[in-house]
Amino acid sequence: MKIGVDYYPEHWDKGLWAEDAEDMKRAGVEIVRMAEFAWSRLEPEEGVYSFGWLDEIVGIFAKKQIQVMLSTPTCTPPLWLFEKYPEVIQVDKSGRRIPIGIRGHRCLNSPIYREKCRQIIKQMVSRYAENKWVVGYQIDNELEASHCCCPVCEEKFRSFVKKKYGTVEQVNQAYGNSVWSGEYSSFSQVKPPFGEHQTWLNPSYMLDFNRFASESTVEYVRFQEELIRSLDKKALVTTNTWLCENMPDFYNMFESLDFVSFDNYPATKLPGDNESLYSHAFHLDLMRGIKKKNFWIMEELSGSLGSWTPMPPTLPPGMLEGYSLQAIAHGADAVLHFRWRTAAVGAEMFWHGLIDHSNVKGRRYKEFCDLCKTVKEWKEIEGSVIKNRVAILYSSEQEYGFKIQPQVEGMHYFTQIKAYHDAFTSLGVGVDVINWLSDLSEYEIVIAPTIFITNSQIEKNLKMYAEHGGTLVLTSRSGVKDEYNRCIMQPLPTVFSELAGAVVKEYNPIGLGTQKIEVSDKIWKGKPFTCTLWCDILEPNQAEVLASYGEDFYQGEAAITRNNYGNGKVYYAGTVLNRKGMVALAEYIVKDLGMEYVQGLPFGVERTVRQKEADKFVFLFNNTDKRQDFVFQEIHNGEADAPERAVLEPFEMAVK
Ligand code: GAL
Repeated sequence: MKIGVDYYPEHWDKGLWAEDAEDMKRAGVEIVRMAEFAWSRLEPEEGVYSFGWLDEIVGIFAKKQIQVMLSTPTCTPPLWLFEKYPEVIQVDKSGRRIPIGIRGHRCLNSPIYREKCRQIIKQMVSRYAENKWVVGYQIDNELEASHCCCPVCEEKFRSFVKKKYGTVEQVNQAYGNSVWSGEYSSFSQVKPPFGEHQTWLNPSYMLDFNRFASESTVEYVRFQEELIRSLDKKALVTTNTWLCENMPDFYNMFESLDFVSFDNYPATKLPGDNESLYSHAFHLDLMRGIKKKNFWIMEELSGSLGSWTPMPPTLPPGMLEGYSLQAIAHGADAVLHFRWRTAAVGAEMFWHGLIDHSNVKGRRYKEFCDLCKTVKEWKEIEGSVIKNRVAILYSSEQEYGFKIQPQVEGMHYFTQIKAYHDAFTSLGVGVDVINWLSDLSEYEIVIAPTIFITNSQIEKNLKMYAEHGGTLVLTSRSGVKDEYNRCIMQPLPTVFSELAGAVVKEYNPIGLGTQKIEVSDKIWKGKPFTCTLWCDILEPNQAEVLASYGEDFYQGEAAITRNNYGNGKVYYAGTVLNRKGMVALAEYIVKDLGMEYVQGLPFGVERTVRQKEADKFVFLFNNTDKRQDFVFQEIHNGEADAPERAVLEPFEMAVK
């Protein structure tokens, strides 16, 4: 496990380099990432390379025995390149080339751009292939699914559609183009989604465009990966990802890369609404789940995050160290802080690093030094991994589907997943967030939130999983669409009705309002909970009713059911419970299986477990700004262990 920093030598006077490296060494930095935006310094003129400065700084770090992770500088091509080859600039939905001067404005599919990338990457990677301190490469920076609409992308999208469907008749059929005279009579009419009224465009076509956009990015990553590997066999290859507007399919993007890297910027102002407090834990679990293995944080929160927005509060004491250790507790093997020193120039001068503009080492820097020390003391944790028994399925298809057609005010794909993640997390039950098409056999509980767009593979997987004894949780808005994003003409949840042992008689998109929900006393000794967003009015045919609606014209009708299916059980939650209700549901499911969980964790305290053979490392993290003094009990097979007391300062992490 390593702690590192992101460093931009090109932003600083050369006189500072040696001093910075010395300070980093003293602080305990073991790895530095550099160069992801340095193209204009590395190739100031077409074909004229200038790597001397990078050699020098790599050499300075090597002397200090600090490893270097280089980045391919392809996120920001130099201005000469745009001037000479304007066709590499992205075209937006209005059909115009976007103004340059910001970053990331290049078309990933452009052949000229790819060729220019190939040349600079070749220069960089072959130069350091023999240097043992250069351990690997980050491909580009925070790649999004490419929604460029330039002529190259247009032609490529057309080929994608042609290859998938063969004839225009088939496309018309798949997209339902008879609506609004949208039928293609020739492939020449297939275009990227131009225009302001994106939500009026055909959802089947939009889903394909999103898939194409993701594929373009994945293919671009593969292009860089193969090139890097051909030049340096030893190099670790990754790319740093984040949760952006147009997300690529993470599972495809990282498929052959060595590990996942994530840019982790939790909000410094603790969320007012409780439900999002566990968000960072969710993001980390999602990242670990992509390859089902440990990951890196390539950029970690270090100070207030201003620049293009007004600055939020700075990190209170304990947060900087706490959030890095939290990432490790969720499976990070390296955490690199963004950035060593806050930029004094350029667009990001108020996105704070460890050291402020003054270059005086302050409170956050000292906390960073403590972090380095703590992680060094955690050497025995090195090589440990996380093995959870609960999985939540994530799918880009649903993410695209919900964005293309929002279902009801307040219902977002991510918040649906997070609500379940939050409920299990609050019981100290570890959760893997994994690809919806993964093998599920190692899990005792699988939650499949809103499988809005289905396909035969997920249907088969979920049936097999339940048949073989798994406990499956299905939710409202499942089985709504087929793989072409067309509504399935059967009672909901259509292809999942047999699993649920119930059908939806009618639904009510209630949005942000709340309703009362009654919980059957024989199962939960609870008070009525409230539910929100969506109400499926269920008609069970096999399933038993666990909860019914407490008001409105469907008062007394089923809201949550449970069905025996093969050797397993299938829960169907036709509505979205409030947090208390969600936690009660999670606890009920866990108890029913006799699984291990924790009673008495205060809100905001997280428990995760890393394992190395027989050794177990149990982490307790106080993700709040209050001191927590509490007594908790681990429950194993329904039996409670002796109560334990824990006292945690704000953002403190304890390991045992
Ligand atoms: C990240 C990005 C960095 C830097 C940082 C702060 O998302 O990868 O390059 O821009 O945000 O703004």
